[in-house]
Amino acid sequence: MTTDTRDPSELHVPVLLDRCLELLAPAASREGAVVVDATLGMGGHSEALLDAHPGLTLIGLDRDTEALRLAGTRLARFGDRAIRVHAVYDEIADAVRGAGFDRIDGVLFDLGVSSLQLDEADRGFAYAQDAPLDMRMDQSRGETAADVIKEAPEGRLRAIFERYGEEPLAGRYARAIIAARQLAPIERSGQLVDVLQEATPAAVRDQRHPAKRVFQALRIEVNGELSVLERAIPAALDLINLGGRAVIMSYQSLEDRLVKRELTRRSRSTAPAGLPVELPEHRPEFKLLTRGAELASDEERARNPRAIPVRLRAAERTRDGR
Ligand SMILES: C[S@@+](CC[C@H](N)C(=O)[O-])C[C@H]1O[C@@H](n2cnc3c(N)ncnc32)[C@H](O)[C@@H]1O
Repeated sequence: MTTDTRDPSELHVPVLLDRCLELLAPAASREGAVVVDATLGMGGHSEALLDAHPGLTLIGLDRDTEALRLAGTRLARFGDRAIRVHAVYDEIADAVRGAGFDRIDGVLFDLGVSSLQLDEADRGFAYAQDAPLDMRMDQSRGETAADVIKEAPEGRLRAIFERYGEEPLAGRYARAIIAARQLAPIERSGQLVDVLQEATPAAVRDQRHPAKRVFQALRIEVNGELSVLERAIPAALDLINLGGRAVIMSYQSLEDRLVKRELTRRSRSTAPAGLPVELPEHRPEFKLLTRGAELASDEERARNPRAIPVRLRAAERTRDGR
């Protein structure tokens, strides 16, 4: 397939689109507003934001050059109101400065992989399709999943599966991989799935696909997803103007925990206990706009399976931290 002919709007259905637009509207409709879409992907959320707010400048980041290229086609009609930057999202401050701005009014994170990445068989993200074990979102740099499987000692494999996959059979799978790779290199997703299937007790095999958590864990490891996110959320919040907003959608509990922790920390008073009055500098920097995490409706979940695990959290800046 030649990638040039694909229509980005058909490759990725934006999750919780109306809710994201509603939450970002007060920030995106300000005069001269700048919003960062930290996970541009196929540009679905960005396109809707630019359509809804004619004065908005949108800076879209993605570490995947193919996603940036496809989103470029979709957003071309907005001219210089849509600025695309090839960056990992913890580089958000540099990206914003590079685009000529100091501060932003809103930020959107729609975490994880896109349907494009999952559907592209040759990238190795999906355990259901046999492909080279790559799994890098940015294919221009870094270690592939095959490199990890080939080189990591048993302890590291086990830790990856435990930490990023919360996989109860982590130790068993790590041992099975070490044994299998001594016989033949494991370079394709199909080979890895076979090794995992074989190492899984029959009773467990009936409950869930043995490769699901291991593949998630390898993807998180290869892309450094959690450590990047841990730096990116504070960096993005620091850039937001008074009254500006952040909307963050996570698709697994490890990400959502990081997001929740940072938003909760920023929306608490830092006044020492016992002070009779709260000094301005102790007031919370943000207020939460969501009670807990919001989920997609049953209707959206039925229409778009990608929306099933989503957890949305949002906050507004109420005090200028600088
Ligand atoms: C779920 S998709 C976004 C879809 C988008 N909201 C849309 O409507 O088309 C997530 C995108 O974020 C990108 N991404 C994931 N982690 C990233 C990171 N650390 N830095 C920059 N981009 C990242 C992926 O390459 C992917 O294209």
